[in-house]
Amino acid sequence: MTLTDVFSKDLFAGKHVFVTGGGSGINLGIAKSFAALGAKIAICGRSQERLDGAAGELRALGAEVFAQSADVRDYAALESAIEGARGALGSMSTLVCGAAGNFPAAAEALSPNGFKSVIDIDLLGSFNAARAAFPQLKETKGSIVFVSAGQAFSPHPMQAHVGAAKAGVDMLMKDLAVDWAKYGIRSNSVVPGPIDDTEGMRRLAPARGGKENVAKLVPLGRLGHVDDIGGVAAFLASPLASYITGTVLVCDGGTNLLGSGMWFSLMMGT
Ligand code: COA
Ligand code: NAP
Repeated sequence: MTLTDVFSKDLFAGKHVFVTGGGSGINLGIAKSFAALGAKIAICGRSQERLDGAAGELRALGAEVFAQSADVRDYAALESAIEGARGALGSMSTLVCGAAGNFPAAAEALSPNGFKSVIDIDLLGSFNAARAAFPQLKETKGSIVFVSAGQAFSPHPMQAHVGAAKAGVDMLMKDLAVDWAKYGIRSNSVVPGPIDDTEGMRRLAPARGGKENVAKLVPLGRLGHVDDIGGVAAFLASPLASYITGTVLVCDGGTNLLGSGMWFSLMMGT
């Protein structure tokens, strides 16, 4: 079953979807899902080379693409990319805040700058993107999809920086849902579970047999695929979700229902 078996391939025809961190992994998967449903796609990230590669993949799906490097921590650079995308593709209908940083580190081994780096990329970067996109989203009565994580609501070992950052992202999402409802702007989060063949999984699940061990611990019995998250993002941005705002939609095969015990076991080797 593919996305276009469920949704019309013209669902987002003429719409501009901007994805921060869209050059790789889950975020590129989200961008591809929107492209398959007819959207024009803008992506940013720090590496222009990576963005150019991703843009090629998106164009191969038939999408019109704008790709400009910007660090989400640098408001001026991000605003320039977001305004550039408006010039190329028209006003944005959907913003996906996916840029993030993660590495496993015990809190006592984490420097203040290490903690700050993740807060700045995930939380400040998400605010920066939403703030710079606001004029366009107000014009289109658009929506925002934040890419969160289970660390936002369940404490995980060696993830104090990520938990604080993603909990902040989800609260920002809810605050914007309230503040910007009067402009017709919706705001929601998607929480991916362990997604196969992604940088996040490579960084967090290398120990003790790696991803095969993780898959065995997922209640639905498999790792997720980037398309699983792309489908959720497309749903949240679609008219089907027009009465949904301020929601965290968890797409994880049931993983987070079990708390962080499996991660504890994998990370600590117990
Ligand atoms: N353990 C502990 N501290 C770490 C670390 C690790 N594995 N990796 C980086 N840090 C610390 C650095 O030591 C530095 O702190 P210091 O100045 O006190 O020494 C701080 O984090 C910033 O490191 P730097 O490499 O300068 O940051 P950056 O802005 O270039 O990169 C990161 C940001 C660290 C998040 C990097 O991992 C990254 O670019 N990640 C993007 C991709 C990613 O994480 N994907 C996974 C899914 S979200
Ligand atoms: P990824 O491929 O590393 O995605 C992160 C993207 O963000 C990269 O394209 C990276 O590109 C970009 N980025 C990083 N720092 C940036 C910055 N300062 N400014 C602009 N762009 C930046 O990792 P992923 O695993 O697919 O993760 C994608 C999202 O899913 C993240 O929000 C993550 O927290 C979330 N998530 C992942 C999993 C999982 O299983 N993988 C589970 C739960 C949640 P550059 O390096 O070129 O900048």
